[in-house]
Amino acid sequence: MTKITIAIDGFSSTGKSTIAKQLANALGYVYVDSGAMYRAVTLHAMNKGFISDDHFDVEGLINDLPNLTIFFKFNNKLGIGEVFLNDVNVEGQIRNLEVSRKVSQVAAISEVRVMLVKQQQRMGQFKGVVMDGRDIGTVVFPDAELKLFMTSSAETRAQRRYDELIASGDDVEFKDILENVVSRDHIDSTREDSPLVKAEDAIEIDNSHLTKTEQFDQVLEMAYKIINHIE
Ligand code: DC
Repeated sequence: MTKITIAIDGFSSTGKSTIAKQLANALGYVYVDSGAMYRAVTLHAMNKGFISDDHFDVEGLINDLPNLTIFFKFNNKLGIGEVFLNDVNVEGQIRNLEVSRKVSQVAAISEVRVMLVKQQQRMGQFKGVVMDGRDIGTVVFPDAELKLFMTSSAETRAQRRYDELIASGDDVEFKDILENVVSRDHIDSTREDSPLVKAEDAIEIDNSHLTKTEQFDQVLEMAYKIINHIE
């Protein structure tokens, strides 16, 4: 079967990764969580002391980028790709609120974006990839055959993220999560380099009132239509 590229963009916690994983599973494609790469760079910046609550040594981080390697390794047991930072599995550390609070500042640095975009383009060079993020349909794969742009209300999204963090044992307050979701959306949409915008040819999906199954059925049908049309 012909392989296509599927780009999924949208605001934080809109369920991009859920739909991306479902699609990748159904089509036998590789799923790449590009946000995990920005989160891994942020964790590195925190560990090395380049960023803290009251300071950000942008130059220091930029100069240190050549010492940084990020890659995904497939975990057969869990059925997901886990992100490694300099050979250490950091999957369990990159989704906490501290990283979430700082990641938008790190993702706004052009040098970081150039490095990660190159790597993402390499991962998708043979197609058969579903990648989610903020600039996938606009910058990473502008020629993707299927582009989705996910939205839903900030409250719905904060509730989803809150439920996930509580389920994984984090002690967090709903108001802090809502504040983080709103502030990240603002920084991600207003940054100079590759801001989060809907690609002209992306299909917008507001999933505030869709079940996961309804959404998946709709999107899988779109993907098959495109694949069958190409063949
Ligand atoms: O998808 P996520 O919430 O894990 O992404 C974390 C942050 O990384 C998000 O606030 C913006 C940034 N990001 C980006 O700028 N470009 C991408 N392609 C993916 C994520």
